[in-house]
Amino acid sequence: MDAPGKIIDVQLAADLKVLEGDGYLLVSDVLNAHERIMLAQELEPWLAATPRCQGDFYGWRTTRVGGLLSKAPMVQRLALDRRMLAIAEALLAPACDCIQLNLTQAARLHPGERAQAPHRDEEMWPGATDGRQRLINVMWAVSDFTEENGATRIWPGSHRARLDRGAELSEGVAATMRAGSACVFLGSTTHAAGANRSPAPRTGVIVSYCLGWLKTYENQFLAYPRATARCFPADLQRLIGYRMHRPNLGGWEGRDPLEYLEGSDAPGAHIDALTPDIAAQLESWYKKAERAADPAEDG
Ligand SMILES: [Fe+2]
Repeated sequence: MDAPGKIIDVQLAADLKVLEGDGYLLVSDVLNAHERIMLAQELEPWLAATPRCQGDFYGWRTTRVGGLLSKAPMVQRLALDRRMLAIAEALLAPACDCIQLNLTQAARLHPGERAQAPHRDEEMWPGATDGRQRLINVMWAVSDFTEENGATRIWPGSHRARLDRGAELSEGVAATMRAGSACVFLGSTTHAAGANRSPAPRTGVIVSYCLGWLKTYENQFLAYPRATARCFPADLQRLIGYRMHRPNLGGWEGRDPLEYLEGSDAPGAHIDALTPDIAAQLESWYKKAERAADPAEDG
């Protein structure tokens, strides 16, 4: 019998192959029935109480709700899903010290909502990417996603081309899936919410991950201030940014933000958080400088 780690490796390799080829991946029935029901129940009061969006990007017959980790605790399970994290780590971690949560957002398309214009989510960060990924999106289906009710449309292979804002809707593929399934797609993949031509709303939850040194779409520290984040599991605290991104990025008073979460307000020393290669380079530089200052010591 294969070890669990090996099975995950095989799964991850297969997932990455699909993503690299098509720019998106459908994963069916990730959530069990209990998880599906809990997720829908936790979201419902927030979706019901939130006014509709205003804008050609957010939509006019759409309701969106952010900051879901505290509003709908089942979203913590989505954000920490091992298969999705493994994909995000594999595609993003080579370009950063650690990945981070970019956003959590519920999106409900009401009947009559028109199709969204095709776009790439990585457009929010300017500059060339050299073909590297900055963002991995996971759209979780809370209700069934159908062609008729506005399933996310994906342009397969579009991650290898320039964004074509005139892309024909008919060239996009509807990511149809049952509630509890997920559609993973790259930040460089052209996509859009479909039109809801059905009489019922279509609801999904977007969870996205980005490079640890980018500005996140959702301000995680406002969404989850100290009193809120303190109650989260440690791996979630780190994922939303309460951690040091080496070297020395994102600290608090020069120290690991986890100390702040734990309630320490006392003055303390700034303490280096360096990657091993930078630490070795600094050590080497100081040794060389010492030898130059005192050649006799060099033997
Ligand atoms: Fe998008």
